[in-house]
Amino acid sequence: MNALEAVLNGLIDVSVIAWDAVIALMNIFTSKLKQGEVIPKGAPGHHGSWPQYVPPREGDSRSACPMLNALANHGILPHDGKDITFQDLNQKVRQTFNFAASFCFFVPNFSARFLEKSYWNDRFDLADLSLHAENAIEHDASLTRKDAALVPDQGRPDLGLVRDLLKEARGKTPDGSPQLTTADLARALSKRRADARKTNPQYSESFFHNTFGSANSSTMLTIFGGRVDDLTPMLVEERFPD
Ligand code: HEM
Ligand SMILES: *[C@@H]1O[C@H](CO)[C@@H](O)[C@H](O)[C@H]1NC(C)=O
Ligand SMILES: *[C@@H]1O[C@H](CO)[C@@H](O)[C@H](O)[C@H]1NC(C)=O
Repeated sequence: MNALEAVLNGLIDVSVIAWDAVIALMNIFTSKLKQGEVIPKGAPGHHGSWPQYVPPREGDSRSACPMLNALANHGILPHDGKDITFQDLNQKVRQTFNFAASFCFFVPNFSARFLEKSYWNDRFDLADLSLHAENAIEHDASLTRKDAALVPDQGRPDLGLVRDLLKEARGKTPDGSPQLTTADLARALSKRRADARKTNPQYSESFFHNTFGSANSSTMLTIFGGRVDDLTPMLVEERFPD
């Protein structure tokens, strides 16, 4: 990356953060979406009805991100996980998970950057997103994947790790079902980091990756309310519960 590129990327990052702050402020003053209406009319998942789930087939491309894989498993992204535009990723994540427009632009734009592709003109396969590099997203000590040095295919969940994670849930939802709390997740992450440090001779950890790893994991609390009943199909089969 040359100096001009670095400055331009810095400007994009600052603008996205400012945009995000405006959205956060507006959220305080605007009313919440009604239950069942979060996904817009006409988009897959509206009123909780999802397109059919088809598990990944031989040759399909999948990533280290459980939630993006679920989009492909339901055909919301192409089922083979290939030739996806960064703009399509933005739109599908926005519609399906109701993430802020700022985030939905930023992460695909950031991914185009580390893949050395153009956000506006190029396409990628889901597996490309699992690039293990200092400036990329995939990192050691994930909650649902063994480290890339031990298991090069990051496209499938490690069911043992998923079980260990969900087992940490000590909370209860109002209807009495098990719920992951912030404390549970913090404990699970520190256990994973300690364990990965011991078992992976090439283990690496940085402030950048830890911060994002924690942000990635916290979506399980913010988007899924920590509900183990909903997280189980999302993490085990990478499937949306009805
Ligand atoms: C916008 C596009 C997105 C991209 C490019 C992306 C990419 C990734 C990647 C590469 C990882 C692997 C990091 C690791 O090594 O653990 C990851 C993890 C994760 N992502 Fe995403 N993601 C996106 C959107 C989302 C959304 C919308 C959600 C939640 C609804 C989500 C939830 C998660 C979670 C929970 C993990 C952690 C899994 C683990 O620790 O094993 N991601 N994401
Ligand atoms: C990210 O988006 C900005 C703003 O549209 C664009 O100038 C930049 O080229 C994009 N980054 C990549 C890697 O395509
Ligand atoms: C996951 O981490 C990456 C960087 O490591 C970040 O760009 C992205 O916003 C995070 N995703 C979520 C859902 O927090």
